[in-house]
Amino acid sequence: MRLALLGCGTVGSEVVRLLHEQAADLAARIGAPLEIAGIAVRRLGRDRGDLPVDPALFTTDALGLIKRDDVDVVVEVVGGIEPARGWLVEALRAGKSVVTANKALLAEDGAALHDAAAEGGGDLYYEASVAGAIPLLRPLRESLHGDRINRVTGIVNGTTNFILSAMDATGAGFAEALEEATELGYAEADPTADVEGFDAAAKAAILASLAFHTRVGAADVHREGITEVTAADVASAKAMGCTIKLLCIAARGADAAGRETVSVRVHPAMIPLGHPLASVGDAFNAVFVEAEAAGPLMFYGRGAGGAPTASAVLGDVVAVSRNRLAGVRSASESAYADLPVRPMGEALTRYHISLDVADRPGVLAAVAGVFARHDVSIATVRQGPAGGGAAGRGEDADLVIVTHVAPDAALAATVRELRGLDIVRSVASVLRVEGGL
Ligand code: NDP
Ligand code: HSE
Repeated sequence: MRLALLGCGTVGSEVVRLLHEQAADLAARIGAPLEIAGIAVRRLGRDRGDLPVDPALFTTDALGLIKRDDVDVVVEVVGGIEPARGWLVEALRAGKSVVTANKALLAEDGAALHDAAAEGGGDLYYEASVAGAIPLLRPLRESLHGDRINRVTGIVNGTTNFILSAMDATGAGFAEALEEATELGYAEADPTADVEGFDAAAKAAILASLAFHTRVGAADVHREGITEVTAADVASAKAMGCTIKLLCIAARGADAAGRETVSVRVHPAMIPLGHPLASVGDAFNAVFVEAEAAGPLMFYGRGAGGAPTASAVLGDVVAVSRNRLAGVRSASESAYADLPVRPMGEALTRYHISLDVADRPGVLAAVAGVFARHDVSIATVRQGPAGGGAAGRGEDADLVIVTHVAPDAALAATVRELRGLDIVRSVASVLRVEGGL
């Protein structure tokens, strides 16, 4: 079985190392030896340390490598939309099997890859694209195909989980925690894709597509990052027995006419400490799947890093290689349900809202009136002196309100109106609450 490896960076170099170290076992598991036919990179002269591979295998001509007749499987660990899309479409149309870790491409234009795979008859596997080493897509794509998945809630970005965990543990602000993440090598030099939620949104699209048999793309995902989360938000969450996580949430629902829909969103949210995802710290990932018959399922592990991600890539390589030897291909993407994606405004959420209000008669009633006007039910109210001083003194009070479930648009309209009231000095923080309180 001959592989074309596209990319030999953090993940690709570990794929090479594992292919070398486990050559005998892999050959026994597949029923044929795995050989690297070539490795496409950008810079031929780059120092690749003591990588156990013949330097003559490196090339900058990725397309030429893909087109070679002696290549059976193409492994893409370059990333980005182009030229990866063109390469993989070419490979799949030519009947080769493809293994990729490229979540950005799958979320942007998964349809082009799935269509090309169907045309060429090869396999398209992408376990490493979501939650790194965690076996998650195969369970969604195969093991749970006899069940009905209602909701997927996940921590799928290690960098932001590291930052939020550090803020929670030390009381640091976002900038300070990001600096630490960068120093320790968790955050990239340009952390935008992680901290602004783009990476998690791409993964959310892939998860939702598999869970609900519906094509969901990056553009269908409501996305908010963690840059606005403050130390005060984290402290407020702690006071409520909660922690803040960047969650990806994909859920079934129904629109006003009762038609089945899905909603897919990525945003920071407070979750109670007792929630299965609350204890997921450091740069770990975890995904909580709720299925009709199976009930709750939890997947946990390393979501990034060269070796963990290469583990998932190689698992796919073994699977597609076995298929090729057997002359079969796995069931392709299942998008038969074709459910509409609901706008974020219709998603059902709860809010935690911290207000600095004037401390005088009638203020609580006025604030409660705003919620009532937007048909948002209040679950709990906590009032204390502004800034935490002695009770009853000062002209302002801190008011913390947690709502019951309501459409996101109603909650957003409530906050907008609160911001416009004289008696509301400031809306200190607005966070969604997930997982019950
Ligand atoms: P790196 O940036 O470390 O490596 C990218 C590789 O692609 C390099 O070898 C680079 O060549 C090569 N490359 C870049 N552009 C071209 C080009 N035009 N032609 C040929 N080769 C090119 O990326 P990672 O290994 O971190 O990530 C690879 C993929 O895996 C991405 O899709 C990423 O999202 C995904 N992924 C990564 C994880 C991680 O922890 N790193 C986790 C999960 C998924 P050169 O070596 O010459 O620079
Ligand atoms: N940047 C990603 C993360 C890498 O922090 O989780 C894994 O996809």
